[in-house]
Amino acid sequence: MDLDWKNLGFNILKTDYNIRSVFRDGKWGELEVSSEDTFPMHIGATCLHYGQESFEGLKAYTGADGKIRLFRHDENARRMIQSARGILMAEVPVELFMEAVEKVVMLNKRFIPPHGSGASLYIRPLLIGTGPEVGVRPASEYTFLVFVMPVGPYFKTGFKPVDMMICRDHDRAAPQGTGHLKVGGNYAASMCSIQDAHEKGFATAMYLDAKEKKYIDECGPANFFGIRNNTYVTPKSESILNSITNRSLQTLAESFGMKVEVRPVPLEELADFEEAGACGTAAVITPIHRIVDPVKDLSYTFGNADNPGPVTSRLYETLVGIQTGDLEDPYGWTKILD
Ligand code: PLP
Ligand code: COI
Repeated sequence: MDLDWKNLGFNILKTDYNIRSVFRDGKWGELEVSSEDTFPMHIGATCLHYGQESFEGLKAYTGADGKIRLFRHDENARRMIQSARGILMAEVPVELFMEAVEKVVMLNKRFIPPHGSGASLYIRPLLIGTGPEVGVRPASEYTFLVFVMPVGPYFKTGFKPVDMMICRDHDRAAPQGTGHLKVGGNYAASMCSIQDAHEKGFATAMYLDAKEKKYIDECGPANFFGIRNNTYVTPKSESILNSITNRSLQTLAESFGMKVEVRPVPLEELADFEEAGACGTAAVITPIHRIVDPVKDLSYTFGNADNPGPVTSRLYETLVGIQTGDLEDPYGWTKILD
């Protein structure tokens, strides 16, 4: 495949195949391979009206050995089950999820970026209510589908520090709402604030807890972490996504001999962090240089604008090293596909 691998953005790009299964009469059907990137559905489908939809995001990498690796896709499968439970959709069994992901990656092998390109194959599983209802109730039919595309960094700068803006005008999620689930409604609720942040020149919006606006929640499509006194600090909140990248970084930080704290992080504590970052599958680790709170006329700065700090860099290199197979994987996080 002849693509400019080193300059890929994070955009839709047509690949050869996607894969689908339908839940009907109480059971999942066979996985079907399709080369169509459209999908006919009933105009009363609950995903269209009432947001019965959940998605996942994960990546496949080519190692230096030429082998294809997936990173912790069993965890994405488990999280999609949590999302399904949260909005009353049929659950996709872990085995079906993993089989679909593995198959669709291998079917699109020619689109997996080469080792060393800095790019990867982004995998987007989707679970949607496709049965029709006009009353607010769960559908009786669901479709699970997985499509893929090669991507570069989510934030254009890649592994370079960015600035973020604290959002006080919109909440992404409520304390007892769906913020901890990976459901489309959360992302719809985040669009105005992200656009506002972009228009003001920031990479993305940073959310505070919706109830008191005292604690850090997360940043755009990624969790937040800060580094201080050899400690990795990350918010505990019922309205943020349980990030697989963040949990992996906590394990790595511990392996470096650091302390890990998962607890509410008051906004003022930003002043004490030596380094800060946003982490997620798409964002990988995006170092943060400055967080601006325009309403309060405050700003917090970490390290220098050109280079990520030493701990952030070590975490990034170790994480990506394991994902691409350049470093040994002592945790069993990666699966090599044959
Ligand atoms: N927070 C939000 C809102 C996200 O959309 C994502 C992306 O999946 C994350 C955090 C990071 O989660 P993960 O590391 O599992 O990709
Ligand atoms: C991911 O990191 O995979 C995500 O799902 C974020 C996405 C909203 C861009």
